[in-house]
Amino acid sequence: DERELRAHFEETVAADRRVEPRDWMPEAYRATLVRQIAQHAHSEIIGMQPEGDWITRAPSLRRKAILWAKVQDEAGHGLYLYGAAETLGADRDDLTRRLLEGRQKYSSIFNYPAATFADVGVIGWLVDGAAICNQVPLCRSSYGPYARAMVRVCKEESFHQRQGYELLWTMARGTAAQREMVQDAVDRWWWPSLMMFGPPDAASPNSRRSMAWRIKRHSNDELRQRFVDMTVPQADRLGVTLPDPELRWNEERGHHDFGTPDFAELARVIGGDGPCNAERVARRTAAHEDGAWVREAAVAHAQRRARRTDD
Ligand code: 3HC
Repeated sequence: DERELRAHFEETVAADRRVEPRDWMPEAYRATLVRQIAQHAHSEIIGMQPEGDWITRAPSLRRKAILWAKVQDEAGHGLYLYGAAETLGADRDDLTRRLLEGRQKYSSIFNYPAATFADVGVIGWLVDGAAICNQVPLCRSSYGPYARAMVRVCKEESFHQRQGYELLWTMARGTAAQREMVQDAVDRWWWPSLMMFGPPDAASPNSRRSMAWRIKRHSNDELRQRFVDMTVPQADRLGVTLPDPELRWNEERGHHDFGTPDFAELARVIGGDGPCNAERVARRTAAHEDGAWVREAAVAHAQRRARRTDD
């Protein structure tokens, strides 16, 4: 009966074993996983746009090939994650509709413009670096398909972060103009990257339950702190200044103290009022509509094959 099923579910989570698609699970557990996994998938797909615009303008064939590979990886990450959401009974077309109608979210970070080629490096270094801090713990998420998707994603994410840092390393050793481009991109992306981790723990309605169910293994603020501590030495080696006058090492805490991100800005961007929200959703909507004929052809082909096997 349901009491036994619930007890077995809770014992599975408490023992750090995986919950699998055919296992019984509380409806609210399923719903919050569909919510988070779908939004994660939407983020990967929308996240192709800022950098995708630079593929045709990359300064060398090598840079073009690397950027092409990275943007294709993001598409693949989105497909793994939509696949993980489908194991929970979600319908991919429905999830796409929710994204296009603004009924589901995608990461705030992709609503900022990639103004110069240095932005491509900073997105790799900071945005994919933040994604790594957030996604490595998700490899131990209690829901099996999500955790396994994350293992593959994290392997590719480390290439994304490294190629971004190497791009900046090259530019930082280039001309004064290139060094200025790098610093300008860092100034524009630093705070939005900290906001990627979500609202502060005290204003995070999903955290308590997500952590109790071991979907989320660390709180928003813990991961934000981990990202700052990881990134400061990298910024020093790169020779860039992080735009936070309160940033300093706190020996007592064993962590860096840093300023408070503008969470009102995060709320505005999440609410649709960021620099590029309309453009990102319009591009995704156009891509969906332009692709309708491919979906119709695939359905017609599958129906014709099904008829042939029936004959
Ligand atoms: N952007 C958009 N929405 C955000 C957000 C952000 N940066 N941070 C929080 N939110 C939303 C949440 O979705 C939630 O809204 P909802 O209830 O309608 O879904 C609300 O703000 C309150 O936030 P909570 O902290 O209560 O929500 P969560 O517990 O879900 O935590 C999260 C937010 C940390 C983003 C978590 O959902 C998560 O870990 N998601 C999976 C990872 C992910 O999406 N990573 C970012 C993008 S992927 C990426 O970077 C690709 C890489 O290749 C570049």
